[in-house]
Amino acid sequence: MPSDHLSRIGVAIDRELLRKFDRHIDRRGYTNRSEAFRDLIRDELVQAAWESGRREVVGTITLAYPHHVHLLNEKLTDMQHRYHKNILSTLHVHLDQEHCLEVLVVRGKAADVRKIADALISVKGVKHGRLTTSTTGAGLT
Ligand code: NI
Repeated sequence: MPSDHLSRIGVAIDRELLRKFDRHIDRRGYTNRSEAFRDLIRDELVQAAWESGRREVVGTITLAYPHHVHLLNEKLTDMQHRYHKNILSTLHVHLDQEHCLEVLVVRGKAADVRKIADALISVKGVKHGRLTTSTTGAGLT
């Protein structure tokens, strides 16, 4: 990044809080504080985009469910066809004889994506579901 795009800022922060933060980012593998701060800021902006509802976002929906429940697989596949415009890709893993894990990559307006995630996760028989909120990366440096 050209240096004329960089702003240097001074932040007053409690010494003990900063010490804890430094220990934390060290454990997370950051080699410098600036990159950790940038990641925190980007994450805050991504979460704000999700809260706005209208912004274009990307995420993943993870579903864990038993293979043997009558019509469950068919129901989930049916729903994925209904939302095909928002579901970019699906990964299906047969975990063992009984259990399946699906990861769906979803894209669209935040409110729509959240609605799709809620609809899938709340299907009877799904043992665990989670929406992971991420970004298209557009507008984030
Ligand atoms: Ni399976």
